Amino acid sequence: MSEMNPQGRSRLDQMPEWTALSKHREQMGEVHLRELFERDPARADRYTLQVGDLHLDYSKHLVTDETLRLLGDLAAATGVAELRDAMFRGDKINVTEQRSVLHTALRAPGSAVIKSDGTDVVPGVQHVLTKMGTFSDRVRSGDWKGHTGKRIKTVVNIGIGGSDLGPAMAYEALRAYTHRDMQFRFVSNVDGADLHEAVRDLDPAETLFIIASKTFTTIETITNATSARNWLLTGLRADEEAVAKHFVALSTNTEKVTEFGINPDNMFEFWDWVGGRYSYDSAIGLSLMIAIGKEHFREMLAGFHLVDEHFRCTPPQENAAFLLGLLGIWYGNFWDAQSHAVLPYSHYLSKFTAYLQQLDMESNGKSVDREGHRVNWQTGPVVWGTPGTNGQHAYYQLLHQGTKMIPADLIGFAEPVADLQPGLVAQHDLLMANLFAQGQALAFGKTPDEVRAEGVAEELVPHKTFQGNRPTTTILAKELSPSVLGQLIALYEHKVFVQGAIWNIDSFDQWGVELGKVLAKRVEPALTEGAAVPGLDPSTTALVAKYRALRAR
Ligand code: F6P
Repeated sequence: MSEMNPQGRSRLDQMPEWTALSKHREQMGEVHLRELFERDPARADRYTLQVGDLHLDYSKHLVTDETLRLLGDLAAATGVAELRDAMFRGDKINVTEQRSVLHTALRAPGSAVIKSDGTDVVPGVQHVLTKMGTFSDRVRSGDWKGHTGKRIKTVVNIGIGGSDLGPAMAYEALRAYTHRDMQFRFVSNVDGADLHEAVRDLDPAETLFIIASKTFTTIETITNATSARNWLLTGLRADEEAVAKHFVALSTNTEKVTEFGINPDNMFEFWDWVGGRYSYDSAIGLSLMIAIGKEHFREMLAGFHLVDEHFRCTPPQENAAFLLGLLGIWYGNFWDAQSHAVLPYSHYLSKFTAYLQQLDMESNGKSVDREGHRVNWQTGPVVWGTPGTNGQHAYYQLLHQGTKMIPADLIGFAEPVADLQPGLVAQHDLLMANLFAQGQALAFGKTPDEVRAEGVAEELVPHKTFQGNRPTTTILAKELSPSVLGQLIALYEHKVFVQGAIWNIDSFDQWGVELGKVLAKRVEPALTEGAAVPGLDPSTTALVAKYRALRAR
């Protein structure tokens, strides 16, 4: 008899659907993508999906119709659709924090009704969006003046994790849409060098700081915000009243914002049902909105919403988030893949994978289930990658000929961004040729016979052989517009959701970041004052002593 958890769901690895997938995997043996395409060339057309502007090609995966059916059975048995509906309904599916998970309400149309704790959250969302729009219009037009009457030329967002990665990533992604006469900088690291480099060439009279912190207690952000305030007041030779024109806050915590000295009128609110890593389409996106303007921001939200609706309403077999989530389960749990590469063929997506790292790894880097039992199965993968083609000349060697299976997403666009110089537009086909070539090489490789046919000396044949069989998803869109960015992010958000639901983990808490924070606070006095820290282990004690000895010099 299979072991049941208190909510009546069988342990994942004891479900018949799980066992069926294990057997199927055994039967597949060493199947090669070359063989799958020989047997079924039509898979190139059949294994594609169109979601909004996103074309997904998943034909280069080690799956057959049978695999997809069995994965679909697993999704049904684990109640993914039911949990999805509970999320959209506002149920408290973040069980360890007893919170609703309603980032989807941030991009819902104003006419929607979405309740958390019996209250419709949509009017509040729309109110903050309008307030953000008015403020960003004023900053962009120069109507919002600094303390000395100068217009704002540089916006510095100070935040970390979800209060940094989202706006920083989206600002890079949508650079072509940004106000080119303004500068935007993002400070996150508590390393003073980050703030130093961000402000060293700025005029405080023309600088606006946006302090982004859901909790407004995060030590890195509050420390940097305090240093920024000192820099501003010293630079302006002004007193506290100058803060009002140069500091705004994005937070859920009015009390702490006021305590810091920011007028609550200059605070843009969001709510505890928005997770930090799901928050850049909330007030946390203010820097982005100032950069791209409120209309483009709204277009981005519409892109998110389009994929939300796809995820909510499309049957699992044609649902892109289900599909990507299930493919990840297939490789992570049945092929022992440990990591997942995201390889955008767009310079503008240079921060995309870093953003996804938090989204995926903070959400699904868990080892107990929703009821607190240790899981026996692998959960979230290590997510990594950088834009092509740079990676090709660095780590792709391991992707092609290493011993590890690393499924990858290749993301590209048919059009280069609109304001590229004509000479550079011509380079776009070369960029995309690389994307297509990599997908082909990873999947089909090069056999020893093919290598020999090129006249390669026999002793070099093994070195020049490419085994292939490395699975990829290709995601193509016409262009990287605000809407397309929203569509992409929502797709990954929901993929992560599907996987967390199957693994039966809480994808919306992040207790794993707490211990390090507590210990850092405890260790700091040892560094600054040489204070004894009770309970410090011998290795760390020795390192602290070494640090102090080196620092004294
Ligand atoms: O420490 C992790 C974390 O809580 C993230 O989840 C969050 O995005 C980040 O810190 C920043 O938190 P806050 O927005 O409250 O400053």
